[in-house]
Amino acid sequence: MGMVSTRRWTAVLALAAATVACMGQALTKQPASVYHARRVALAGELKGGVAILFAAAEPVLDFMPYRQDEDFYYLTGWNEPGAALLVEGANGTERGYREILFLPTRNLRAETYTGPKLDADSPGVTAATGVDAVEPMTALATDLNHMIDADRKLAFNLWTQPASAQARAVIGFTAATLGEDQSPTAHDVTTLTMPLREVKDAGEVDLIEKATAASIAAQRAMFRVVKPGVTERAVAGEMTAVWMEQGCERQAYAPIVGSGINSTTLHYSANSRTIEDGDVVVVDAACEFSMYASDITRTVPANGHFTARQREIYDIVLGAQQAAMDAFVAGKSTINDYYRKDPNSLDTAAYNYVNTHGKDLHGQPLGKYWLHGLGHMVGIDVHDPANYPAVLKPGMVFTIEPGVYIPEEKIGVRIECDFLVGADGKLIDLDAALPHTAEDVEAAMRGK
Ligand code: GLY
Ligand code: MN
Ligand code: MN
Repeated sequence: MGMVSTRRWTAVLALAAATVACMGQALTKQPASVYHARRVALAGELKGGVAILFAAAEPVLDFMPYRQDEDFYYLTGWNEPGAALLVEGANGTERGYREILFLPTRNLRAETYTGPKLDADSPGVTAATGVDAVEPMTALATDLNHMIDADRKLAFNLWTQPASAQARAVIGFTAATLGEDQSPTAHDVTTLTMPLREVKDAGEVDLIEKATAASIAAQRAMFRVVKPGVTERAVAGEMTAVWMEQGCERQAYAPIVGSGINSTTLHYSANSRTIEDGDVVVVDAACEFSMYASDITRTVPANGHFTARQREIYDIVLGAQQAAMDAFVAGKSTINDYYRKDPNSLDTAAYNYVNTHGKDLHGQPLGKYWLHGLGHMVGIDVHDPANYPAVLKPGMVFTIEPGVYIPEEKIGVRIECDFLVGADGKLIDLDAALPHTAEDVEAAMRGK
């Protein structure tokens, strides 16, 4: 190898190393073997078919940070745009299991804006990605064409993300090259990844716990900051600073700091009001650590003391959460039974508690002020996918978040905690370290 060529290779290696190091700093990854096992598990569901998943595209607007497609990330841990993953199922064919990561051609001009990337020719790229084979993106259409040409049935056993424009493009191109009467169709691959994503492995639980620890720290900061005269947005800002200090890359959803009447709007996120004396403030705000979310709500009195009526409503909501926890049986209880048709749902247990405790100003039960499902799965998405109402099993992480919202009284109360179903079937409250009761919330606001 001559001098020029040696220098070029040294530069490429340095770039690859810098890229990997940079990605390593950005996100905590699970071992490559974990993502590989997930791809093999997906292949086991394909019945000889082929799954093609595309990475998220880079956002067009400069102020929007990049976030990887969730299913793509779950299967690869790869956090760069423009890639595609092909997984070929082992069952039902003689071809056997195969996986290929397709990486786009590097765009050196774009890289001056967004930083260096790896492509299929970068030294060490296979090890860096952890995928058996890495090819240039230009090979995807050719590979797919050859695969379908060799087995025309495959055209009807393709799986991809339903909303992916790239999938439509490559499948349309393949159809055009193979002839109209062999037009490939694609099934929704998220119906196969969803059951895999529902049960979290130990590494995922660890990441959710990191997101939760940072979210707890931010909620503690919130207890110190909320007072009359402070804007809702300033509270969100203080919490955001804590998330970033704790190594989280972003909020898990738009932070909700709803004071006074805003406490009764479920997903209020304008955060544009100034908090007033006598308000309750619903603070539903949490962050994401290495792509995994937390989801926590606490409701606090603006001046540090709940009124008797606010306290009564608070205690009913807390009682509803406890009723759901008491009713929990792993493998039997369900969550997110919006219409409360399932007698085994935790929604039913919590709703019944609310509807049999307390009254509104007109002497009516409070059930009608309950406006949403009791909870949902949490994972790479704060609202992780599941078939609701979902039976709760060991390894699942979900919220229990009862709420009562009475606009007439300008009182909204939501208490939201994240729970892991342990291997023994018992519930583990992931934000147990954060105050739950009205007394403990008031004490925290006094700095206790
Ligand atoms: N933070 C949104 C939710 O609780 O579902
Ligand atoms: Mn939630
Ligand atoms: Mn929430």
